[in-house]
Amino acid sequence: MEQKEEGTIEEGTIFEAELQQEIMTILDTPEAVFHKTKNLMDMLVGYRELMMMYTCAIKEVRTKFEVLDTEFSVRFQRNPISSISTRLKHTNSIMQKLERNGCHFSIENIEKHVNDVAGIRVICSYIDDIYEIANSLLAQDDITLIRQKDYIVHPKPNGYRSLHLLVMVPVFFANYKRNMRVEVQIRTIAMDFWASLEHQLKYKQDIPNQQEIVAQLKSCAEVIASTDEEMLGIRQKIEAVSDTPTEDDILIEKLSRFDMHI
Ligand code: GTP
Ligand code: MG
Repeated sequence: MEQKEEGTIEEGTIFEAELQQEIMTILDTPEAVFHKTKNLMDMLVGYRELMMMYTCAIKEVRTKFEVLDTEFSVRFQRNPISSISTRLKHTNSIMQKLERNGCHFSIENIEKHVNDVAGIRVICSYIDDIYEIANSLLAQDDITLIRQKDYIVHPKPNGYRSLHLLVMVPVFFANYKRNMRVEVQIRTIAMDFWASLEHQLKYKQDIPNQQEIVAQLKSCAEVIASTDEEMLGIRQKIEAVSDTPTEDDILIEKLSRFDMHI
């Protein structure tokens, strides 16, 4: 019978014991596996509920803007809002943002660290409409302003312009009320046109002449900003030359629009 060296037998025994230990840590006991699976399921259910709550918060804020636009159209015969778009942040973007902030994926961390899960973008024709609409929203007593960034007064170095509001809105569910955060971006049609083209640049890593494109975009942003100013100036001039209506004129105008679709 072949004899094994003593040392080899011992090493083999130690190795087997280590391996067994390793396997024991990888393969949890059935109870531990059940517990972990249950926690994961709970988290998934909680996450889905949280996303439902953010979706409802978007609806609340969207309706507020739609109400303001409708009121403006009846009172002043013009719509300050050209369009509204909304989005719920994708799960992979939420995960990436948490990772960038050094946080693990949890319901608490999403609510605490990700401000833009619920996003709403309001596009106006004129710059003054942006502030009028923003102030009307912020004046509502159920809206709390958490943070404001005015990239119109202080554009970003690349030329980005927009008014950002981070607001909190209460949402009423069947048995409870939750204050939810919503990120609002308000900008003109021209600013939005610029931002959508500039956004494409972020996803294209190896564009030749990148520097040139960045400079071109920056100069376009300035042209757009001065065009926005000029368009507003023209509108104000037109409004100024229009005859100041008498009370009777206003009443007749309102009556003539009595049956308009609102
Ligand atoms: P992030 O959401 O992680 O960017 O952090 P933040 O909330 O501090 O950023 P900020 O308020 O400055 O911007 C939020 C959003 O505005 C972004 O997610 C974009 O949608 C938009 N935005 C900001 N800067 C730019 C920009 O330079 N170009 C474009 N196209 N969009 C921008
Ligand atoms: Mg964002």
